[in-house]
Amino acid sequence: MSSTDTHTRTALTLTRRMRRLRQSETIRAMVRETRLTPDMFILPLFVCEGEGVRREVSSMPGVYQLSVDEAVKETAAARGDGVKSVLLFGLPDRKDDIGSAAYDPEAPVQSAIRAIKRETPDVLVVTDVCLCEYTDHGHCGIVIDNEIVNDPTVEQLVRAAVSHAAAGADIVAPSDMMDGRVAAIRGALDERGFEKVAIMSYAAKYYSVFYGPFRDAAQSTPKFGDRRSHQMDPANAREALREVEQDIDEGADIVMVKPALPYLDVITRVKDAFGYPTAAYQVSGEYAMIKAAARNGWLDEPRAMMECLTAIHRAGADIIITYYARDAARAIA
Ligand code: PBG
Repeated sequence: MSSTDTHTRTALTLTRRMRRLRQSETIRAMVRETRLTPDMFILPLFVCEGEGVRREVSSMPGVYQLSVDEAVKETAAARGDGVKSVLLFGLPDRKDDIGSAAYDPEAPVQSAIRAIKRETPDVLVVTDVCLCEYTDHGHCGIVIDNEIVNDPTVEQLVRAAVSHAAAGADIVAPSDMMDGRVAAIRGALDERGFEKVAIMSYAAKYYSVFYGPFRDAAQSTPKFGDRRSHQMDPANAREALREVEQDIDEGADIVMVKPALPYLDVITRVKDAFGYPTAAYQVSGEYAMIKAAARNGWLDEPRAMMECLTAIHRAGADIIITYYARDAARAIA
């Protein structure tokens, strides 16, 4: 008797054979628990001054600093791929110690909001509200005696958020991690008749090394010190729940966990605890790691991209902010 005969004749009696449902793509697709759709993606865009500018960020291949006209084109192209939301970051030429370009109505972000709303009115425009791209020292707030001071910073953030709303933003997304900024922004928006503008708060934003490439893109590396005094300690998860609870109490409509992949447990806990629309940001370093490995031939990029995005959604994220938004939308089309 050959060994093949032995094997075909030997059958265990098993009530459960998990492999029955893995036999073909049709059956695997039928029992698949998590599915990505382009509706959940938000594409970040870095908007700079000038015209016809499309400058690749060296540490983020495929990501560009774009002038307003180019940002409009990129948004339309993303729309064509099925991505209906963008998140705008501004790169002003002029920076000062209080980040006043953050609320300049003619600055790149405000101009881009108006232009995108004109050309692609159905695209949802989200704006990053922070000072780090606007201060000459690169900090997220006003610095007094080497301290990033909370309350005066909140006043500046409020000005920025109001100016984004006035330009036509649908959602403002404070990423600074100052205390009390959600309530202050909500109050100011309502006072000025922008009660329909939603707030997506970077609620559990960690002090992460994975923001490195973003700082090349946004030219926002702090000139001294770091962001530990306001961003969360990566070791803490229970504290994330308190951060999120506070932002919800202050009026956040959507809460975010950031970064995504190293904090899947936090995404799950936040989603389970509050059941709020939960966003996760697959940050620059997460993107750059996949890109770099793929360029070395060490990882299959499309599969790595889809596996990470699926995991982020499976963990509980309803919304994913990702530099891969267009690629992923095309991959699932
Ligand atoms: C702050 C901000 C940062 C990111 C988004 N908003 C950088 C930081 O906190 O240093 C990082 C996003 C990324 O890494 O992709 N305005």
